[in-house]
Amino acid sequence: MAQIFDRSSNALARMSLVLTGLIVIALGVTLDSLQRSPWVTRQGQRPDQPVPFSHKHHVQGLGLQCQYCHVTVEKSSYAGIPPTKTCINCHAQIWTNAALLEPVRKSWATNESIVWTKVHDLPDYVYFNHSIHVNKGLGCSSCHGRVDLMPLMYQQNTLQMEWCLNCHRDPAKNLRPVNQVYNMAWEGPSSEKPVWCSVSEEKSGKPTAQSVNCQTSEPGKTEVASLDLNGLKLPGMRPAAAEAGDRLVMLSTAGNYTKFTSQRELGNFLIDHYKIRKPNELSSCEVCHR
Ligand code: HEC
Ligand code: HEC
Ligand code: HEC
Ligand code: HEC
Ligand code: HEC
Repeated sequence: MAQIFDRSSNALARMSLVLTGLIVIALGVTLDSLQRSPWVTRQGQRPDQPVPFSHKHHVQGLGLQCQYCHVTVEKSSYAGIPPTKTCINCHAQIWTNAALLEPVRKSWATNESIVWTKVHDLPDYVYFNHSIHVNKGLGCSSCHGRVDLMPLMYQQNTLQMEWCLNCHRDPAKNLRPVNQVYNMAWEGPSSEKPVWCSVSEEKSGKPTAQSVNCQTSEPGKTEVASLDLNGLKLPGMRPAAAEAGDRLVMLSTAGNYTKFTSQRELGNFLIDHYKIRKPNELSSCEVCHR
């Protein structure tokens, strides 16, 4: 029987198969990167707000603490957005005629809340809780970036599942002492900038994290005793050691401090003392999908 298709059409068929394959792969890659693109995750976007509120001016410029406005961040799952009253505390006196603040004055006069556009917004099927993170040594800046430098708020990270898991699988790389969670400029310890921590006895009823004290300056030495050495001869003392006016000073370092020079060491120490769960427990589906 004569060949219906000649050699060239055979090659053509093979070629089109390859092409189809390539197109399918390209489509997959496009969809995948689309799903991760800032357009979908809203990373970096500055949505329009009724008032162009600047964290940079209010936090870095005026030195206001995050808790001044986000009052529930340590106590509840929500950090909360401040009511108009918080703005009026100052803006009844400052910038009282500024057009930018008209929505604030109107809200105050009419008793209707300002409707801020959410910047961060997880889907409803994801459970998230601020208090647990903040009370276990995760700083605002680890998740939200340098808020103190943002003239307008934007979302620094993707907030996608991979992003959450990336930390849940290895929290040590991000943990810091609880007294540093509001420190926007925090960097992990290094040999140039060590961190010292001591552990005091745990008190029942208090959060475990409060039994750990950390500081970024070398623990102060306090003088507990001092002895005038003038003319004194102590057993074993070299004669030259005691000259007129010399004093024997005994120093004590409060508590038992451990010095940390890397994030990994500090992270592992905090995992132990803050009683952070194991990575496999923290990555199980029920943690975030209840
Ligand atoms: C003077 C009050 C005030 C202070 C202080 C303040 N914020 Fe805010 N914050 C606001 C207001 C108002 C909004 C809502 C408008 C916006 O998104 O910019 C907001 C929004 C946010 C959001 C985004 C909320 C969303 O919609 O997803 C984050 C994150 C945030 N603040 C973090 C911080 C951090 C971290 C600090 C401390 C470094 C801080 N804020 C200090 C008033 C404040
Ligand atoms: C502790 C006092 C204080 C509080 C609380 C406060 N502000 Fe301000 N705000 C100021 C001062 C002071 C300025 C002027 C800053 C400057 O010029 O650098 C200012 C400036 C502004 C401006 C002008 C643009 C800018 O950022 O310079 C806007 C808008 C504004 N505030 C909105 C708000 C809103 C909304 C709230 C409530 C969520 C608020 N402020 C709470 C003190 C405050
Ligand atoms: C472990 C990551 C993480 C840390 C740490 C964290 N946040 Fe958030 N924050 C989020 C996520 C995720 C959302 C979005 C929550 C949602 O949509 O349900 C959010 C939302 C917010 C909001 C919007 C209002 C709300 O409660 O949903 C504010 C304000 C806020 N964070 C402030 C802070 C401040 C201030 C700190 C530090 C004290 C902080 N966050 C620490 C992840 C974090
Ligand atoms: C930078 C690190 C980090 C990021 C990012 C992070 N987490 Fe966590 N999260 C932790 C740590 C550490 C714990 C464990 C605290 C413990 O074991 O006591 C935790 C605990 C939790 C818990 C347990 C609460 C409970 O009471 O059982 C939930 C839920 C949770 N995270 C949800 C999320 C979600 C959702 C995201 C992403 C939107 C996220 N986390 C992002 C570090 C992080
Ligand atoms: C640390 C918190 C966390 C854990 C643990 C977690 N997820 Fe998620 N998951 C999320 C977040 C956050 C999203 C929302 C992603 C988004 O908005 O893009 C999500 C989204 C999803 C979605 C929706 C589809 C998607 O990918 O956007 C599915 C399905 C899902 N998770 C399944 C699981 C399963 C199965 C497990 C256990 C193996 C699991 N998740 C564990 C945080 C978590």
